[in-house]
Amino acid sequence: MNKEEAKKRVEKLRKVINHQRYLYHVLDRIDLSDAALDSLKHELKKWEDEFPDLITSDSPTQRVGGAALDKFQKVSHAVPMLSLEDVFFAELKFDGLAVSLIYKDGVLIQGATRGDGEVGEDVTQNLRTIESIPLRLELHGTLAKNFSRQADAIERALSEGIIEIRGEVIITKKNFEKINAAQKKKGEKIYANPRNLAAGSIRQLDPAITVSRHLDFFAYDIVTDFGQKTHSEEHDLLQLLGFKSDGAAKRLTGVGEVSKFRNEIAKKREALAYHVDGIVVQVDINELFGKLGVVGKAPRGAIAFKFPPEETTTRVLDIRSQVGRTGVLTPVAHLEPVNIGGVVVSRATLHNADEIERLGVKIGDTVVVGRAGDVIPDIRAVLKDLRTGKEKPFHMPKSCPVCGNQVEHPEGEVAYRCVNKKCPALQRKGLYHFISRKAFDIDGLGPKTVNVLLDQGLIQDAADLFELKEGDLAPLERFGEKSAANVVRAISERTRITLPRFLYALGILHIGEE
Ligand code: IVH
Repeated sequence: MNKEEAKKRVEKLRKVINHQRYLYHVLDRIDLSDAALDSLKHELKKWEDEFPDLITSDSPTQRVGGAALDKFQKVSHAVPMLSLEDVFFAELKFDGLAVSLIYKDGVLIQGATRGDGEVGEDVTQNLRTIESIPLRLELHGTLAKNFSRQADAIERALSEGIIEIRGEVIITKKNFEKINAAQKKKGEKIYANPRNLAAGSIRQLDPAITVSRHLDFFAYDIVTDFGQKTHSEEHDLLQLLGFKSDGAAKRLTGVGEVSKFRNEIAKKREALAYHVDGIVVQVDINELFGKLGVVGKAPRGAIAFKFPPEETTTRVLDIRSQVGRTGVLTPVAHLEPVNIGGVVVSRATLHNADEIERLGVKIGDTVVVGRAGDVIPDIRAVLKDLRTGKEKPFHMPKSCPVCGNQVEHPEGEVAYRCVNKKCPALQRKGLYHFISRKAFDIDGLGPKTVNVLLDQGLIQDAADLFELKEGDLAPLERFGEKSAANVVRAISERTRITLPRFLYALGILHIGEE
């Protein structure tokens, strides 16, 4: 950008930032996440650093001004100002689905969702499929040491009485990604985050689907009163009863320790096997917790201290269509590269023409991007106030960007499709599919090698793979005699495969594994 353009951008950025400040700090309204707003402030600072004469005293970057003092004067208080040491219990806030479990005489008899808080849904059959939920409660250890006072009541409830446990049904990041990849392959719904996936898996009429999702459960509350005095005791008791409970959870003194705990978890968050969207902090003493009461549906004694969603702003440099294996054109936004939660992102799928219309995104727009379920980058909003008037609308192409043939858009369908069955894009992607794990599954042959083979004219279609000789492969980059021999052998081992694999490998529209 030249100085003139930068000046215009700077003025627009200030206006948007200032308006957001007013909404947030004066009207108590949130319109843009902290993370997205920070990203705009960063951009403003960047332009001001590059063109210092654009800095004005009322710029949002100039709030911290003035010289640093050497030290502050000391003041003695006539009456000492005391502080309180509050005791809290802090634990991970799992991004899943809250459920309640009822055990009668030690046996799981009912499991329910939260619903509206008053009435939930009976999902017992599905919860029974989760291996970390005990079907019968047993003591894993002795009550004597920490629970001597409550031992009788607990033992009685295990053999004759009701025990209610609450916790969160969750899914690991690994499984979340696996399931979404499979959904995508099947052309089915992609889950936006682990919470949606956990909820979708629990609210299934067929428990077999729930089983296939490999859900997990963390307990965080015992509703039944055994005379336990603190929430930390409850966590110990949950473990004694055979539940998995948060290992990072801690008893803390004072708000400073809570804040430190939150920052520690924020740092560890990426490395955790589960998605965690914040921490839950509560008054540890149950009696106090009860006395504090409830406002609306939220107890005063507990609070969720959430992490900002991983979002930032960037600009759409271009929108281009990618041609997939079935010929469907997918519009993809090419972005000015940005770091979202530690990962540099330069592309975000726009899914289809309907999504472009819904967002109203144009080439040149400044957009809010995030990672869905903190994984797949997506465009969440368009900041239309930052437009210069030079933004260009995007239209799905009438001809295929790869082969130039006609693109068809059947009535009533969202998809735009290249009609050319010989389109190189289709053939390339079709070959990737042909050799993939669930199809011919050829060891040592991946998309990179297929690209080289196609580009060198060594193959034109899948059948050509079976004609390849060691001597064809050995001279190629990344190959030697040994690896060439291995690939040729791997291919020859696949001259006979099962019919389902063969059908799948052909990649016929609407024909999948099942
Ligand atoms: S305590 C008043 N502890 O967060 C509800 N909740 O916003 C007190 N959650 O609906 C619940 N992890 O689904 C609690 N360690 C945890 C939690 C947790 C996740 C969810 C739960 C609840 C929501 C509260």
